Amino acid sequence: MSLNNPLWCSTPSAHYPLYQAPLSVLPEILPPASHYAVVVDSTVWALHQPRITLALSTLPHYVHVVPAGEHSKNFQTLEKLLTDMLKNGLTRKGCSLAIGGGMVGDLAGFAASMALRGVPFVQVPTTLLAQVDSSVGGKTAINCGAGKNMVGAFYQPAAVLMDSAFLQTLPTPERRAGYAEILKYALLGDADFYNWLEINGKAVLELEETAVRHAIKTSCQHKIRIVGEDEKEQGIRALLNLGHTFGHGIEAESNYQVLHGEAVALGCLMAIKASVLTGICAQDVLERVQKHQESLGFSTTLSTLLGRTPNVQDIMAHMLMDKKGAGNFILIKNLGTAVQQALPDSMVLQVLEEFI
Ligand SMILES: NC(=O)c1ccc[n+]([C@@H]2O[C@H](COP(=O)([O-])OP(=O)(O)OC[C@H]3O[C@@H](n4cnc5c(N)ncnc54)[C@H](O)[C@@H]3O)[C@@H](O)[C@H]2O)c1
Ligand SMILES: [Zn+2]
Repeated sequence: MSLNNPLWCSTPSAHYPLYQAPLSVLPEILPPASHYAVVVDSTVWALHQPRITLALSTLPHYVHVVPAGEHSKNFQTLEKLLTDMLKNGLTRKGCSLAIGGGMVGDLAGFAASMALRGVPFVQVPTTLLAQVDSSVGGKTAINCGAGKNMVGAFYQPAAVLMDSAFLQTLPTPERRAGYAEILKYALLGDADFYNWLEINGKAVLELEETAVRHAIKTSCQHKIRIVGEDEKEQGIRALLNLGHTFGHGIEAESNYQVLHGEAVALGCLMAIKASVLTGICAQDVLERVQKHQESLGFSTTLSTLLGRTPNVQDIMAHMLMDKKGAGNFILIKNLGTAVQQALPDSMVLQVLEEFI
């Protein structure tokens, strides 16, 4: 994934490189443009402004700072952002640049898909979650009254630049949330990677350079493989939702106070428990993954994650409303092998009760 040897994501609609390189190479990897509309969130801007400003210093650009936090993924912020971009120099010959976590990537990517009926955009993901997941694959979206990510577009970036230096300022819970998506790739498609994570997971969370680079690269290889086969989620891409149907129920039950990745991690344990109950997976797989998560400080019960006794009926109700749920679950047959399967409500409830 170096500057000279990037990974490539190839889909029916696009073919783009993914680099692991310092932000200073930005001018070398950006598509040529007359103007760059740069979108960052307020936290990333406060922490990394000098480095970002230096990397952009030779480029014609305007920086748009949006308030940090999931609440910025809405129609109001989107409208304001689009208006600001167009009033401050973005034309058809321009390019949009998202520097931030998944929130900024989703918001700026969706804005790029709409501005002037679509301008190229580049992702510079700054969270672990964004470097292993959201910046790759072309899903862009905002939230609305009907639910999270319900309004959006498939719109692939022109390039992705991952600079691990950004991760140094990332709080531990956010690192853990990104790690959950890394673990997800291992569970659904790569037993060797899972074995590697059991040994190196702590080093990844502590941002040991070689370990974190390997984890990001391997995760991106899995995402690229799956998105390359199924860009619009008509089939195999659904496997990436491992742990997400349960996870979304937990997130909603917490009123979105629990981080997405931390909910997904517990959701993966629940999906494995469901796999055990349906008879397709051995109990010792569940015990092994649970032990791994506990060793890294994940909450492996609903009570510890939510900080109170959960109402499992409410979690069920949230799950039934989930667009990704609709009775379909991603289960695992073994470490590294996932399948899609419907589950009866009674079993879903039983699983939730096991994790109270
Ligand atoms: N498009 C996709 O395929 C996809 C996939 C997964 C998640 N998502 C979306 O991504 C979002 C979650 O991503 P996220 O966890 O990156 O959220 P985020 O962008 O909200 O970032 C999390 C927090 O970390 C801060 N932050 C970002 N970079 C930082 C840094 N380098 N140092 C310190 N703090 C930093 C942010 O300001 C924010 O407070 C959700 O909106 C989710 O829906 C999209
Ligand atoms: Zn996720």
